[in-house]
Amino acid sequence: MPLRHCLPGAGVRVRCAPTSAHATSILHRYLRRPDSLSRDLHTNEKFVRISLMEEKTNAAERIIRRFGGQSALAALLGKRQSTIEHWARTGRVPAQWQMPLMSLARQRGMILEAKDFVEPNPNPIQPAEGRLGILLVGLGAVASTFISGVEHARRGSGRPIGSLTQMGTIRLGKRTENRSPLIREFVPLANLDDLVFGAWDPFPDNAYEAAVKCSVLDRHEHIEPIADFLQSINPMPAAFDQYYVKRLNGPNVKRGTKRELAEQIRADIRNFKSTNHCDRLVMVWCASTEIYMEEGPCHLTLESFEAALDANDETIAPSMLYAYAALMEGVPFANGAPNLTADIPALVQLAVDRGVPICGKDFKTGQTLIKTTLAPMLKARMLGLNGWYSTNILGNRDGEVLDDPESFKTKEESKLGVLEYILQPQLYPELYGDVYHKVRINYYPPRGDNKEGWDNIDIFGWLGYPMQVKIDFLCRDSILAAPLVLDLALFLDLAQRAGMKGIQEWLSFYFKSPQHAATVYPEHDFFIQQTKLKNTLRWLMGEEQITHLGLEYYQEE
Ligand SMILES: NC(=O)c1ccc[n+]([C@@H]2O[C@H](COP(=O)([O-])OP(=O)(O)OC[C@H]3O[C@@H](n4cnc5c(N)ncnc54)[C@H](O)[C@@H]3O)[C@@H](O)[C@H]2O)c1
Repeated sequence: MPLRHCLPGAGVRVRCAPTSAHATSILHRYLRRPDSLSRDLHTNEKFVRISLMEEKTNAAERIIRRFGGQSALAALLGKRQSTIEHWARTGRVPAQWQMPLMSLARQRGMILEAKDFVEPNPNPIQPAEGRLGILLVGLGAVASTFISGVEHARRGSGRPIGSLTQMGTIRLGKRTENRSPLIREFVPLANLDDLVFGAWDPFPDNAYEAAVKCSVLDRHEHIEPIADFLQSINPMPAAFDQYYVKRLNGPNVKRGTKRELAEQIRADIRNFKSTNHCDRLVMVWCASTEIYMEEGPCHLTLESFEAALDANDETIAPSMLYAYAALMEGVPFANGAPNLTADIPALVQLAVDRGVPICGKDFKTGQTLIKTTLAPMLKARMLGLNGWYSTNILGNRDGEVLDDPESFKTKEESKLGVLEYILQPQLYPELYGDVYHKVRINYYPPRGDNKEGWDNIDIFGWLGYPMQVKIDFLCRDSILAAPLVLDLALFLDLAQRAGMKGIQEWLSFYFKSPQHAATVYPEHDFFIQQTKLKNTLRWLMGEEQITHLGLEYYQEE
């Protein structure tokens, strides 16, 4: 009878060895030279290495085993065993030990790579095969600029500048490894050629007419050459109610109770998917900002939400109908405006229950983008802040909608929150305990989409001496927002294929008011958001997290 020996600590089994003593000797040889053992086996020995991943072990334990267990590794490194035990317990080998361990492994003829130090994502990512339908709520300036840009990128007549998924790279491993692939080659994202667009809008203009009216893009250079394509995208009738967007009124609207409207949107989603032969869908709210609403009792559970839907309750805004319909149909949802929408417990829970990723709110494009990059600098340098006055002039339809005080309040709340969370006045009362923060948006038609945003920032330094920073950002709102729509659509689709559900906080990078778990405060610091996003991509692909500690480059081997 062949003997079967296991040495759990080594993660190996030896079969068919002639004697137990012989098997033990094989195991010991394995512990000394794990990757060269198969060469040394006698013909009547068969060596089986169990896939280490099959065992319920963490990354640190697996590495420790490869060096012969805790005491063996402690001896090799000249460290106390309690240190190695700590690694096994926490599942992490600290970053400064990773390079030394990799070179130790090399010396012993073993292969140990950066990716062995991280837990791979337990959910395999489904491939991005087939067509991805992007359903846009609102076919205005942002949506038409986004669609046009994607079409130009596909035809090679424009570049998708501003899009991290299309232009960005991601560093992997140590700086010495020189690995920085394009993000779109690193993670499996849908290809631009596989995107199909649909939209709803209370105005019947197709994407061509919308693009011409918004006049974001140069008509001759960027609209006429793709006119046929844009004319083929006609908005479906919207679930719209002027009570929620006071300055608009369009004829292309659905009729019915709120329940009926939600069911009609669900039917639209299904029809769009089958008519356009889509394999997957995502929905992005690019519609106008609704009036300010706070979370209420109807928003707490799915039961209360659906009861309110059936009762035609005022607290169920049209944006909630779209989000609800998307989640019920298993379609990921991103909210580009500051409306409450899916940021209520009932819909967050529905997203989790249905296995659908969601994110929001309010694209972070112009002034807030600048604010959330500058404020972390002030805090990092411990420079004080007395006041931050931000004002804008804007002449597009969004500006007109925001001219209504009730819609402006929604936007104002979204814009005001960021400084408090970044500057943490409770930790630094001397520096940030008394900040006057003001945000204004002024509707000024001559400017159209070409917004101008001014910031006057009163800061103070050493011994309290005052200084000022002035910013005048002559930006183009939709030019900044369009690449965000693309990234969000592609990343939400990726998240869904990776089995991620509920709030996707790693996409905070794109939002002024990032949706977050009830137990934590939102992360507004742009650079922390960027690290979070890239580390999530590394985690998804089983790559090492980058801590930026970097001590290993200065340690002698
Ligand atoms: N452009 C930016 O930089 C930026 C940044 C952050 C947020 N946003 C937000 O993005 C949204 C879109 O901006 P925009 O410049 O394209 O505005 P826009 O006014 O040009 O387009 C919005 C479209 O949504 C439509 N709409 C309104 N209610 C609707 C409903 N219930 N269903 C379907 N469609 C509806 C409107 O008719 C309009 O065509 C706005 O809420 C804006 O506040 C834009």
